Amino acid sequence: MALKSPSCGSNMTCRKQCAYLTMENTTGFCIYDDLTFEPLAQLGWQVDEIPWNTPGIRWNNYDVVVIRSTWDYQNRAGEFIRALEEIDQSRARLENPLRVVRWNMEKSYLRDLQVHGIPIVPTQWFHNFHDETLSHVHRLFQADEVIVKPIIGANADATFRLPSRLPHEAIEQVQAIFKDRPFLTQPFVQSVVEEGEYSLFYFGGEYSHAVLKRPKPGDFRVQEEHGGQIRPVEIAPDLLAAGRKVIHTIGSDLLYTRVDLVRSPAGQPWLMELELIEPSLYFPFDPDSPTRFARALDRLSHHPDHDRRLPCLFT
Ligand SMILES: Nc1ncnc2c1ncn2[C@@H]1O[C@H](COP(=O)(O)OP(=O)(O)O)[C@@H](O)[C@H]1O
Ligand SMILES: [Mg+2]
Repeated sequence: MALKSPSCGSNMTCRKQCAYLTMENTTGFCIYDDLTFEPLAQLGWQVDEIPWNTPGIRWNNYDVVVIRSTWDYQNRAGEFIRALEEIDQSRARLENPLRVVRWNMEKSYLRDLQVHGIPIVPTQWFHNFHDETLSHVHRLFQADEVIVKPIIGANADATFRLPSRLPHEAIEQVQAIFKDRPFLTQPFVQSVVEEGEYSLFYFGGEYSHAVLKRPKPGDFRVQEEHGGQIRPVEIAPDLLAAGRKVIHTIGSDLLYTRVDLVRSPAGQPWLMELELIEPSLYFPFDPDSPTRFARALDRLSHHPDHDRRLPCLFT
């Protein structure tokens, strides 16, 4: 069922049609995308919110389809990609583009960025969880605690903070979860709980705003859905430079880019995630950010061939 943005009133002519992809059941999620409806209406855009798996939508009726709050796709990634392929084959322009989504869907993109000189949280990649996996990574990272998380994931789903000694039953439980699911391991980064995780937002390749996300006491997951506290932040110059380096490396003016950074034990910025598919953009934390987003969307929609602007990193 498609919901229409209310802001295109009788005194404004909405010539351009945009769809925001969302999900059927949004209960328990914090979604702020409606803050962009008004500035988009000012630029002549009507927005419909449509769950990504709704059958029978005529995507040809839209100029732009923006992936937004599709936070239930991670367990049916194939179905999600097929839905995006259908949109991609219509006359609508998909943002961010399909090629970017494919590249960004698996956290293995971090390896590509590391090869290009971006400092990431130290990471080991696995296909199978063996009896020895945990002790191996604890030794390798020389860490008291490690993080285990799926290569395809969102909302910190199936993300575990594990000490070096775990009861056998607990190891079996983790083993069962990652039986057919590739995963990665990282040392537990202490600054996530002490300082927080920074998110820097770029619209059309230009810096917009930043937030600091802190987990609730006793947790390590910074997401609001897990009780994390979000606040706007004046971003320190070294973090801003780290974000800019990521933007230059991907070399693209994507509609939205979110760069998640944490500080290493030595205080250096490490990339935790580059979110190009469906990041929360935390519009309420900067009152001008919805307008910047609307302008970037409008500007990019005039770009004649949006696939050509993608660098070869996205392959
Ligand atoms: N190495 C780590 N050290 C400490 N906390 C981590 C680490 N990796 C992930 N986390 C926590 O788990 C959350 C989810 O992990 P993330 O890599 O951002 O995946 P996603 O957001 O796609 O689920 C992070 O926002 C952070 O709170
Ligand atoms: Mg994240």
